Amino acid sequence: MDAADVLETLPITAWHGPFDPALRHQALTALEHGKVLVLPDLPFPIAPDEADLLRPDVAGAERKNVSLDPRTGRLGNTALPPQQAGRLTAMVQRFADHSARLLADLLPGYAPAMEQARTSFRPNEIAGRSTSPRHDDTRLHVDAFPSRPLAGRRILRLFSNVAPDGAVRAWRVGEKFEPFAQRFLPRVGRPLPGSAWLLEQLGITKGRRSAYDHLMLGLHDRGKLDAAYQATAPHADVTFQTGTTWLCFTDQVLHAALAGHCALEQTFHVPVSAMAAPQLTPLRVLERLAGRHLA
Ligand code: SIN
Ligand code: FE
Repeated sequence: MDAADVLETLPITAWHGPFDPALRHQALTALEHGKVLVLPDLPFPIAPDEADLLRPDVAGAERKNVSLDPRTGRLGNTALPPQQAGRLTAMVQRFADHSARLLADLLPGYAPAMEQARTSFRPNEIAGRSTSPRHDDTRLHVDAFPSRPLAGRRILRLFSNVAPDGAVRAWRVGEKFEPFAQRFLPRVGRPLPGSAWLLEQLGITKGRRSAYDHLMLGLHDRGKLDAAYQATAPHADVTFQTGTTWLCFTDQVLHAALAGHCALEQTFHVPVSAMAAPQLTPLRVLERLAGRHLA
């Protein structure tokens, strides 16, 4: 595989439309077919008086990223004192607002149904970070989160590299979702009877974990824990320069983040019903492979 198989580059230069219908169609088609949409001419603007915020120690020790709930404006996991934290909140909130506007204008078919989830600032260097294999995002995986059942809803993520020293963000992108799912689905066991109910009662999941969520978590874990797969799976290594913005469905695109620091990220959830090609979604692919309804 090479970069051309997994990336689609668009000449977008503004965080808002109007965008040409042909360009919007190209963006939609590439995303739903599991490509990473790259916008090399769309830097996220950092104000001169924000430059001092682009450093690892603005993040707290609890988690690797600083994160914002863009609906409440509350910033989590920052080590900054309140005054400084206000400036960081404003920067991350501006990224959230720019991202929402870009997607509303570029993917208007999604906009009415799309939910804006958390925004994050990722100042820490990825390379050399020690984590458990399950949390190790330098291994190829599709995104699936234990506490947040989605019942088939898509995870669309937009990133921008804002590293002040010009460091690239290096990703590995793997094979298509279907061959990956075909390989690992037989290795995902059934959930214990009653476990979805119990996880919800205990507050471990926000809502009931569906069969879809169980399988996606299983694929995430089985894939990351298979050292032979990680060493030999088809992939293309790609880099995103400072000043580059990119987005993809991370529940569908096999990806690993290998190196880099100082990225901003915005997550959106989009229902399958908003897709132009629902048959390409992980939910429909898994339902076809499993021969049953999953959500
Ligand atoms: C990931 O979703 O695996 C991490 C992506 C990144 O931070 O570049
Ligand atoms: Fe991921």
